[in-house]
Amino acid sequence: MNANLEQIKQEILAGAEELNSSKEVYEFKKKFLDGKTGKIGLLMKEMKNIPNEEKAAYGKGVNELKAWALEFLGGLDEKMKAKELQARYEAEKIDISLPAETTAEGNLHPITLVRNEIIDIFSGMGFEIYEGPEIETDYYNFTALNTPQDHPARDMQDTFYLSPEFLLRTQTSAGQIHVMEKKQPPIKILSPGKVFRSDDDATHSPMFTQMEGLVVDKGITLCDLQGMLDEFVRQIYGEGTKTRLRPSYFPFTEPSVEVDCSCFECGGKGCKLCKGTGWIEILGAGVVNNKVLENCGIDTSVYSGFAFGIGIERTAMLKYGINNIKMLFESDIKVLNQLNDK
Ligand code: DAH
Repeated sequence: MNANLEQIKQEILAGAEELNSSKEVYEFKKKFLDGKTGKIGLLMKEMKNIPNEEKAAYGKGVNELKAWALEFLGGLDEKMKAKELQARYEAEKIDISLPAETTAEGNLHPITLVRNEIIDIFSGMGFEIYEGPEIETDYYNFTALNTPQDHPARDMQDTFYLSPEFLLRTQTSAGQIHVMEKKQPPIKILSPGKVFRSDDDATHSPMFTQMEGLVVDKGITLCDLQGMLDEFVRQIYGEGTKTRLRPSYFPFTEPSVEVDCSCFECGGKGCKLCKGTGWIEILGAGVVNNKVLENCGIDTSVYSGFAFGIGIERTAMLKYGINNIKMLFESDIKVLNQLNDK
């Protein structure tokens, strides 16, 4: 082969080693195979300087070199394109076997869940919601509720006084007075809210939540109270749960009762939750004391009523099996997540 042709072939072989992309192959190919300016194209122009007897062999050599270069560089181009496609696949690969990223979901706090559940049950029985103020006067929190000056609940030890007249309400019962002052019977309200007492141990917190209930109408008796509470415990603690009333004392009710429900954990046989008694205390209630109705200008010869007060934290503790009230206020996410799973 003509030395010149051989040199070009070697140049192509050596140059190909340096190529790294299909674009480089394209440029390199142009350098040799571009019709008129490519190095192989120019070889044909040399024909005129070749002696006649060598022309045929030279022409054949150039054509062979051209065919070889086309095949060689074409193959290289294909290989390079395949490599580039593979690299693109790798770069754009989506690994569908990876677990999805989880986003933390918010949940309602157990106190809110229990509060909503109680509201749901009673609104189903026609109760309306009234939310009273957290700062009360001595009159609404005590005097109007027939709680005399010397009652122990008024003690500085129990009540957070803001001034001789103002205090943080110790009970949602104060809401009863606001409602009865504004509205004549029939009255059927539920009053949820925070209350405050200077009390702090495993089952008491200086701030906790109560739900007050008040019904005033013609002919209301203790039987109406028990019938309604039976329905309440059935819905909140499950079918077959019953109530029991025990005599008690509250200044604003007469008679007053503590209400127990049959233990929803053991069905009344006796267990750790009910301390072997088969009953669990759930709320205080009673027939509204006439003095309270009179304080609000309600005619006791026509109307009577019943009231009850539920501790929401206590209800949540029973429902979720919590023995320390602090767990409900610490907002430890691990604890809250467990409570929400129930
Ligand atoms: N206010 C009472 C308390 O905080 C609970 C209570 C008892 C409310 C009897 C009532 C009731 O309405 O009739 O301990």
